[in-house]
Amino acid sequence: MEDTLRRKLEAKPLNFESFFSEKALGMKASEIRELLKLVESSDIISLAGGLPAPETFPVEMIKEISAEVLEKHADKALQYGTTKGFTPLRLALASWMERHYAIPMSKVEIMMVAGSQQALDLIGRTFINPGDVVAVEAPTYLAALNAFGYYEPEFLSIPLDDDGMKVDLLEEKLEELEKEGKKLKFVYTVSTFQNPAGVTMSVERRKKLIELAKEYDFLIVEDNPYSELRYSGEPVPPIKHFDDEGRVLYLGTFSKILSPGFRLGWVAAHPHFIRKMEIAKQAIDLCANTLSQVIAWKYVEEGYLDRHIPEIIEFYRPRRDAMLEALEEYMPDGVRWTKPDGGMFVWLTLPEGIDTKLMLEKVIARGVAYVPGEAFFAHRDVKNTMRLNFTYVPEEKIREGVRRLAEVLKEELH
Ligand SMILES: Cc1ncc(COP(=O)(O)O)c(C=O)c1O
Repeated sequence: MEDTLRRKLEAKPLNFESFFSEKALGMKASEIRELLKLVESSDIISLAGGLPAPETFPVEMIKEISAEVLEKHADKALQYGTTKGFTPLRLALASWMERHYAIPMSKVEIMMVAGSQQALDLIGRTFINPGDVVAVEAPTYLAALNAFGYYEPEFLSIPLDDDGMKVDLLEEKLEELEKEGKKLKFVYTVSTFQNPAGVTMSVERRKKLIELAKEYDFLIVEDNPYSELRYSGEPVPPIKHFDDEGRVLYLGTFSKILSPGFRLGWVAAHPHFIRKMEIAKQAIDLCANTLSQVIAWKYVEEGYLDRHIPEIIEFYRPRRDAMLEALEEYMPDGVRWTKPDGGMFVWLTLPEGIDTKLMLEKVIARGVAYVPGEAFFAHRDVKNTMRLNFTYVPEEKIREGVRRLAEVLKEELH
């Protein structure tokens, strides 16, 4: 008896993998991400990141507001909150969206979330059955593919050009789907200063997308973290502005207009959709960070936000300009790139035959990093693209980084 017990207790190597769920077994860290993590902590000029510049964080404003919040509202700010979020903040955001985007908010409800990334997961939970068709831009935001991917949709990739998603191609696909007896569940779009491509969907296409949504009865998820970061050109109303039926679920975030460390975003959608997403959120984290919410409330309500946005723009515009000028000066013939009016990214398309994933190590050896474009495509079928970030690194480094990248490209092309 004792022997059996001893044998049972003898340490055996644990079979870690055997405990994971099937879904967890399917989750894989990307090799590129691992490589780029090393780059971030070295002297390499990284045009790979997606981070806002810390210089744009309004530290003094946050100090001032936090002191006031802790002085006057500690009972609320340090307590659990409702799942939907801190009501004064939700009201302040509703009025800000109405003023800035001319979105009539009477039939729109706002729920606060832990960054818009959480909203992407909530949308997956609430709307996607395995096999549902979800249309995404090609390329699209990588972490949206990961968030939705968990719920096993069938992705439909719709290419982009300088005016955003090619909505005419979407229409063709919708006709094909209809013939196959299938239906689109939703279109996911980063409508303004897209991540990764930097392009903005034109007003005509926005209106057309709404028309198609009505005709083919699907929803639109509009993810809009970047529209306030406009360095040139005229503002474009969000797709949500054209939505008179409640088909658009709009995602906003404080990450690029305050700080990503707040982990605070919001969903603005029809109350019927919000109610279900609220139940889903309750099971995940009960409520978004209350302290962040109360500080963000003052930030919006008392006009700090509107004062700070122009400061962020002035900080980033020279960096955007430096990148576009350097690309013009150094890139060899055959390389194309987008010319964003705002946001954080430029997208490069190289001649066919160049695989940017394979080229990355060579470029890193010259002290520069970028993100290979492949992972931004739902079907990973495009090899000759890359994303460059222009917000994190100062102008001189951007110029030097682009010069070195162009050197490697010239060698590759010969
Ligand atoms: C298109 C897009 N959506 C969502 C997010 C996530 O942002 P948040 O910090 O609000 O979770 C990002 C962040 O880079 C993004 O680029």
